[in-house]
Amino acid sequence: MPITITVKVNGPYLIAGDDVAQVRIVDPTGHPLVSAKGSGKTIALCRCGASVTKPFCDGTHSRIGFQGAEEAQRAADTSAPS
Ligand code: FES
Repeated sequence: MPITITVKVNGPYLIAGDDVAQVRIVDPTGHPLVSAKGSGKTIALCRCGASVTKPFCDGTHSRIGFQGAEEAQRAADTSAPS
């Protein structure tokens, strides 16, 4: 399975795939960042901005009621003149 990044509804960016261990996430200086959590087949990156383990998701999005912009974007796309 190719590595896929899924924008989860009102949640993180989920990186998944058989070779997800090959994904390197680095800081601005190129220093590797390691997630403390994960199944080994997925990496969740924070999209809400509230995680205390950025860039990784720590589940805070659920507690703060994060709302992604997908619905607003979809509505804007469908109402735009063609
Ligand atoms: S998306 Fe999960 S903590 Fe931000």
